[in-house]
Amino acid sequence: MIRWGIIGFGRIAHKFAISIENLADGYVYAVASRSGGKDDPYLKAHPDVVVYKDYESLLNDPKVDAVYLALPHKFHKEWAIKTLEKKKAILCEKPAVLNSEDMKEIKATVLKEKTCFLEALKTKINDGMDHLIEDLPMIGKVESIEANFCSNGLGLKGTNSFLFDKEQGGALNDVGPYLIGFVLDLLKDEVVDLTSKLKIVDGIDEHFHAELTLKKGTKAYIEGAIDEAKERYALIIGEKGKITVPMFNRIIDYTIELNDGTKLERHYPLNGDDMTKEIAELQYCLTHHLIESPRHTIDDTIEIIELMEKIRNNK
Ligand SMILES: NC(=O)c1ccc[n+]([C@@H]2O[C@H](COP(=O)([O-])OP(=O)(O)OC[C@H]3O[C@@H](n4cnc5c(N)ncnc54)[C@H](OP(=O)(O)O)[C@@H]3O)[C@@H](O)[C@H]2O)c1
Repeated sequence: MIRWGIIGFGRIAHKFAISIENLADGYVYAVASRSGGKDDPYLKAHPDVVVYKDYESLLNDPKVDAVYLALPHKFHKEWAIKTLEKKKAILCEKPAVLNSEDMKEIKATVLKEKTCFLEALKTKINDGMDHLIEDLPMIGKVESIEANFCSNGLGLKGTNSFLFDKEQGGALNDVGPYLIGFVLDLLKDEVVDLTSKLKIVDGIDEHFHAELTLKKGTKAYIEGAIDEAKERYALIIGEKGKITVPMFNRIIDYTIELNDGTKLERHYPLNGDDMTKEIAELQYCLTHHLIESPRHTIDDTIEIIELMEKIRNNK
């Protein structure tokens, strides 16, 4: 049984605590929260969970096998490295860190400590995504992919939300990993050229578009936003047909339409919820003594962050 410790008990951490209940071989053993405590409904309902008031104490608890790091982005690097140095496996929220140099430092720590690191890229670690990859050859050579992830977080302006913090905010940090991760995972190809357009308001990229050109000629058009909600979808066009994926970030359904008139509807219900599989993946790595997941490697994370840097700098 894997004993998890959660660092930072905010919105996504509460979802994690519910999601893990779908798995038989892991549970929330401890939570470290600077602000949470007695009145938290989850903790009230789970009196056996050990509660620490500081993150360091959780890391010093020898019973913690794995850590779910759910702090705002700018704290990921420091606490990921501290976690690895305590030889605890880590599932770290996305974006793993804010620049590729920091991610390379984490990679060096993983190699030194021989302890597992996985970025929580739930869009990629999903059964529907695995099936989509299997089905992709049906549409022949992929000509283009279009995908968006646009939501409206403008109501959070002026609050202490990380989304509008100049050090770590913006659409690219928030949804870039999902969009870039989706494209690279499908195409297994290298980006050779890139153009981008960012809408920057008060130092924050609230909306971005990027056009990626891949080595084999495919074009990928991605759009992310925190200033405007749009219906989320991906459209993949190939020589022999197209695939439409609603909610590509949590693939349950998609439709394959071939040029010969064949239409196939795919449906892959989630086993648990959209976080369950990434939690199971870290547990698999831990029990099999892997330092990274073959499904989403540390170099995959570095590649995504490097592309985010290029998108940010291209403007
Ligand atoms: N929300 C989502 O749906 C979602 C989805 C996927 C990924 N993520 C990622 O998960 C991370 C956390 O997102 P979230 O939405 O859960 O954030 P959140 O609700 O703001 O929670 C973040 C937690 O971090 C802790 N914290 C420590 N220092 C802080 C500081 N200076 N300012 C604010 N919080 C501080 C707090 O926990 P304690 O008071 O308990 O210590 C806080 O509750 C982000 O990197 C985000 O990209 C979020």
